[in-house]
Amino acid sequence: DALSAQDIENIAAYFASQTTTPGQAKKDLVEKGEIMYRQGNAATKVAACAACHGPAGEGVSLAAFPALAGQHADYIASQLKKFRSGERSNDGDSRMMRSVTARLNDKEIEAVASYISGLYK
Ligand code: HEC
Repeated sequence: DALSAQDIENIAAYFASQTTTPGQAKKDLVEKGEIMYRQGNAATKVAACAACHGPAGEGVSLAAFPALAGQHADYIASQLKKFRSGERSNDGDSRMMRSVTARLNDKEIEAVASYISGLYK
């Protein structure tokens, strides 16, 4: 509440100018994580993450699709579970992330979160 609109712009610009240090995906989760990220799951109608978050997880700023590349796996997994339970609901009326995660199981979340943590351009 204490931040002005200008403060928010400044902080966002600062973080956008930083470079990320990618982590490393767990070896045994790479294959499953990559399929989830790049193709989704046709059987359960889960859209490919790459369709919105970009092939290298770089995001699409004009569409307000956030960058994910290199983010810690634990953070990604916790956010996916929060969207799934509805605890996180700031994806607006489109409910993009709540509908994507509604059909993700815990194993898919773990794999795709690990994969994203090792993504970089
Ligand atoms: C139809 C477009 C779309 C698809 C497909 C999609 N996302 Fe998202 N995602 C979004 C949008 C929009 C947001 C921003 C929501 C918000 O404002 O918090 C988001 C936010 C996120 C966040 C929160 C980022 C943060 O910094 O807190 C994570 C994590 C995420 N998506 C992961 C995924 C994963 C993993 C997949 C694939 C299983 C996926 N997304 C598929 C549109 C999409």
